[in-house]
Amino acid sequence: MSEPVPPHAVYTDEEVVAFYSRFEEQRPAELAWVQENRELLGESRVLDLGVGAGRTTPLLMPLSRTYVGVDYSPPLVHAARERFPDADLRVGDARSMPWIEPASIDVVVFSFNGIDTMGSDDRALVLAEVFRVLRPGGWFLFSSHNQDAHGYRRLARFERPRLSRVWLKRTARRLSALARHARMRRDEVFGDGWSIINDEAHDYRLMHFYATKEYQEQALAGAGFELAQVYRQDGRHWTGPDTESLDLHYWCWKRG
Ligand SMILES: C[S@@+](CC[C@H](N)C(=O)[O-])C[C@H]1O[C@@H](n2cnc3c(N)ncnc32)[C@H](O)[C@@H]1O
Repeated sequence: MSEPVPPHAVYTDEEVVAFYSRFEEQRPAELAWVQENRELLGESRVLDLGVGAGRTTPLLMPLSRTYVGVDYSPPLVHAARERFPDADLRVGDARSMPWIEPASIDVVVFSFNGIDTMGSDDRALVLAEVFRVLRPGGWFLFSSHNQDAHGYRRLARFERPRLSRVWLKRTARRLSALARHARMRRDEVFGDGWSIINDEAHDYRLMHFYATKEYQEQALAGAGFELAQVYRQDGRHWTGPDTESLDLHYWCWKRG
């Protein structure tokens, strides 16, 4: 059996850190959500989990009453601090944040499927920790891979052959990634409405959690959250099975 690469090792890798440090683009679902919740954000203490190199910091910080970003990768937090020296950015693990007071946060965000490198047990820890730090009625936004997406187990595509050094380098890299995939896919797990698969992110180095919207809704209800809205990848509201979005954004609130 192949050993999956621990996600923490991927997120501290120099090349991956460089990738996220250049990454600025805000995603359509995030923009749609911000547009609809601007007023709420203005009154909110916001906790941005898995903040990485701070892609979401310039989106959320100016709109929030207070803002804290947290990530368990020290080099990514370092990169985020370099980009946004005025932001409160900390190294921490979303599964356990004892330094955050219970019920002291209004809005928690876990963007860009950051929660999906965790399996069921760790996801449950994150949901419990988010529940603990949120005030009753507080809100949680996260994105997660959509198991209903058409071709969700697609393989990396190869570029049309062009005899150049760059092409040869890229092709060699793809081949080695596919060899890794052939090993790692033996560890894939398929459940009812969810799966943990080795997709092409970061050259097939990660196992990612995928689920249907129905599974997510049930898991959230079990953890004390009520789903208020689901955003498709293009920012429109979810209205029925969505085979186009590779991930969905879930917007839910803490009962209690
Ligand atoms: C796909 S990256 C997204 C980074 C950033 N949110 C963005 O959109 O550019 C996922 C991030 O989640 C972080 N992460 C994963 N598991 C975590 C955990 N248990 N606690 C804190 N951060 C975590 C990773 O270090 C990584 O920075």
